[in-house]
Amino acid sequence: MSENHNRLTTSWGAPVGDNQNSMTAGSRGPTLLQDVHLLEKLAHFNRERVPERVVHAKGAGAHGYFEVTQDLSKYTKAAFLSEVGKRTPMFIRFSTVAGELGSSDTVRDPRGFAVKFYTEEGNYDLVGNNTPVFFIRDAIKFPDFIHTQKRHPQTHLKNPNAVWDFWSLSPESLHQVTILMSDRGIPATLRHMHGFGSHTFKWVNAEGAAVWVKYHFKTEQGVKNLDVNLAAQIAGENPDYHTEDLFNAIDKGDFPAWRLHVQIMPVEDADTYRFDPFDVTKVWSQKDYPLIEVGRMVLDRNPENYFAEVEQATFSPGSFVPGIEASPDKMLQGRLFAYGDAHRYRVGANHNQLPINRPIAEVNNNQRDGAMIHGNNGGGSVYYEPNSFGGATESPAHKPAAFEVTGQADSVSYNHDDHYTQPGDLYRLLSEEERARLIRNIVGAMTPVENEEIKLRQIGHFYKADPKFGQRIAEGLGLTIPQGE
Ligand code: HEM
Repeated sequence: MSENHNRLTTSWGAPVGDNQNSMTAGSRGPTLLQDVHLLEKLAHFNRERVPERVVHAKGAGAHGYFEVTQDLSKYTKAAFLSEVGKRTPMFIRFSTVAGELGSSDTVRDPRGFAVKFYTEEGNYDLVGNNTPVFFIRDAIKFPDFIHTQKRHPQTHLKNPNAVWDFWSLSPESLHQVTILMSDRGIPATLRHMHGFGSHTFKWVNAEGAAVWVKYHFKTEQGVKNLDVNLAAQIAGENPDYHTEDLFNAIDKGDFPAWRLHVQIMPVEDADTYRFDPFDVTKVWSQKDYPLIEVGRMVLDRNPENYFAEVEQATFSPGSFVPGIEASPDKMLQGRLFAYGDAHRYRVGANHNQLPINRPIAEVNNNQRDGAMIHGNNGGGSVYYEPNSFGGATESPAHKPAAFEVTGQADSVSYNHDDHYTQPGDLYRLLSEEERARLIRNIVGAMTPVENEEIKLRQIGHFYKADPKFGQRIAEGLGLTIPQGE
């Protein structure tokens, strides 16, 4: 053994005399309760896991920076976007959605694209996906939707009946289903896919004027996808294929990069646009609202420790900074609650104090105590507000921009029910080879569905998007489209 080894210690810092043999009564045993090193070692081992994320459990992360390439301060006062060339450290976590922590990387699933910008005005989290839309558009449907993506309560198997039953009864999912079943449903690597904020957000400038905004991260590596058969083979041979690829690329200095673009919509357009611009199942036409480049994100550093940095990372769509605010998007509104709640359960009430989550901005929040306090817990400083003793005070200049709300409180759907135009446009945009693969993927995914009614209902949706789209799926499944569909 080398002279240079550090001394092995217990968790209370005392040297460990023997780490190979437990202390026993006589050479045969039994083992003594007095072996406190053994007790501590076994007990800590039992506590090595925290609950995995209820969705997006399998993921890979990296550190990097974001650099502003265009001054958009006329739209937002966000300090980290204030001048060309400004760099902000960031951390990203990519993930699959439905699988567990050990599940395969190369399955057909949206990919999470969660970015934490450590800005001087606090952390800004942009918790998006590699798709510009989502399956549903109201947070109240999320637990039901995710149940259908997870395992059956009795068989513990994935359940295509539930998946297609829910989708066929929730036609707003058609756009995302079409994207998911296309080539983009299985990216070649995490480096070869775009990222999206998906929701509409609000940007507010220094004068208090607002615009609506959507985010697009465009991969500089180009979009590449995996052939389905190869993906299935890799899923068996190397379930961590994407995780490994990202780590190795960064390790050898091949730093992946994305260009961040935004679409900007004047606030007044929201009232008259041809669909509700807060509906997360729709994309805004780039002819109406062209992409404007904001900056460049580069991933140039691997985590030193997976658990500390990737597993304990907590991203929340509610972590805004001055100049960036929520829109009325009903999915986003639900997410503003769900993530912080998940973090307090999964990581703990003081998850924001962990190094990976801690803002570089000074935190003066008067929160004290709770499990796992780091540092001095505010010491003896003032711990309430208002106060007369020089403690932290609120800054009215940073209040979110006021906005008007009218209408009756009620449970209502978005008033626009065209679920078909955008998925149909997408289908028509694909080349014949891409359409053939889309049809094959959908037919493959729907074949195990036992209930013919579910299949017919879903075919009806594809048919409404484009009659040929529906017909080809019906043919592939050996079914005939009922009259009147
Ligand atoms: C993770 C809830 C919709 C992207 C999570 C987590 C929860 C959650 C509870 C686990 C958080 C954690 O344990 O740290 C919800 C709810 C939604 C919703 C209630 C709808 C109302 C969406 C949408 C997107 C999205 C629309 C993308 C546009 C993500 C990502 C993660 C995640 C990327 C993983 C974050 C990470 O890497 O730690 N979601 N989600 N979710 N969600 Fe959602």
